[in-house]
Amino acid sequence: MEKLRNGYLFPEISMRREAHQKKYPDAKVISLGIGDTTEPIPSIITSAMAEYSLALSTPEGYQGYGPEKGQKSLRKAIAEKIYPNMGITDTDVFISDGAQCDIARLQMLFGRDVTIAVQDPTFPGYVDTGVIMGQTGAPDESGRYAGIEYMRCAPENAFFPDLATVPRTDVIFFCSPNNPTGHAASRDQLRQLVDFARGNGSIVVFDSAYSSYVSGDQLPRSIYEIPGAREVAIEISSFSKFAGFTGVRLGWAVVPDELLYADGTSVARDFDRVVCTTFNGASSVAQVGGLACLETEEGREAVRRVVGKYKENTRVLVDTFTALGKEVYGGDDSPYVWVRFPGQRSWDVFGEILEKTHVITVPGSGFGPGGEGFIRVSAFNSKEKVVEACARLTSFLA
Ligand code: MLT
Repeated sequence: MEKLRNGYLFPEISMRREAHQKKYPDAKVISLGIGDTTEPIPSIITSAMAEYSLALSTPEGYQGYGPEKGQKSLRKAIAEKIYPNMGITDTDVFISDGAQCDIARLQMLFGRDVTIAVQDPTFPGYVDTGVIMGQTGAPDESGRYAGIEYMRCAPENAFFPDLATVPRTDVIFFCSPNNPTGHAASRDQLRQLVDFARGNGSIVVFDSAYSSYVSGDQLPRSIYEIPGAREVAIEISSFSKFAGFTGVRLGWAVVPDELLYADGTSVARDFDRVVCTTFNGASSVAQVGGLACLETEEGREAVRRVVGKYKENTRVLVDTFTALGKEVYGGDDSPYVWVRFPGQRSWDVFGEILEKTHVITVPGSGFGPGGEGFIRVSAFNSKEKVVEACARLTSFLA
């Protein structure tokens, strides 16, 4: 715990927001910071949850603990609707209370003696749980922890590492579409990743929490679209950004049958043991909601419409920063826009924007040393607030 360099990124930002609001009590702060959904959940989903909840008050409808791994109907819906023709079955799927919690459970499975690689920049949960597990040495001045391989993913290398120069690690955390850069890896890039992991005997933990933001049919939404991936990859994902469930809490992990340790034993069997020991299963109410998102075309269309609204906001953000002459990335396949401020420290840019516009962003360096000089701007807010934030940013930055 002592090695952790800073507090966790998002509570740190909340503290700065509170301090700012105290300093300017009348300021109308707009958050384009943490990726927290704001759109109401479609009623086809909430009514299913409400009906199930009311039935819990009746002797016939009451249900207690469910399977730790989650309801079979939901596991089956995920296998069929999210992973069609990818060889994933309901037995490979573990329902959870969110991808972040699965990261922690996976780290518990891996233990302290593994080596890990992460994209730089990337979602801070992989590194911080690794530090908490004791996988790392102390951080250097730039914040790099000894023992972690940081795979630089920058505009200069098309946001994909040169794997020929990356040393072997036991585990590779890879998030696509990437949080924070918004870059979605191509089929060829993921093929390289799978081949690299296979050659090295590494496990890839592929985080697809933002896959529903991918536009068009060219880019893969799951690692399992790549042949051979079931033998090297675990996929974690979430209903948070796909269905607005950040508060409801629901996610899943896929640990395929084919994923084996070097001695031929099953990774899924051990993960099952970890899950059964540390978790009593996701909320049954949330699971009913998850099923309502997937089982009918009406449900699937309802969540697509919500994602579409955030994607419209992303367009507004990209257009605004482009008009300001900024170097802007992401946005097309992700709810995040990644903006470069050359020669500036990202916490300084974050602070100046907050001070002058009352808009919350996220400093790029919070996602790793490779994020220095960037800020991440999120599309998770109402259209009206995003437009207002863009007007304020334009008058400050123009
Ligand atoms: C983010 O803002 O990067 C994430 O959405 C926060 C989270 O999922 O924990």
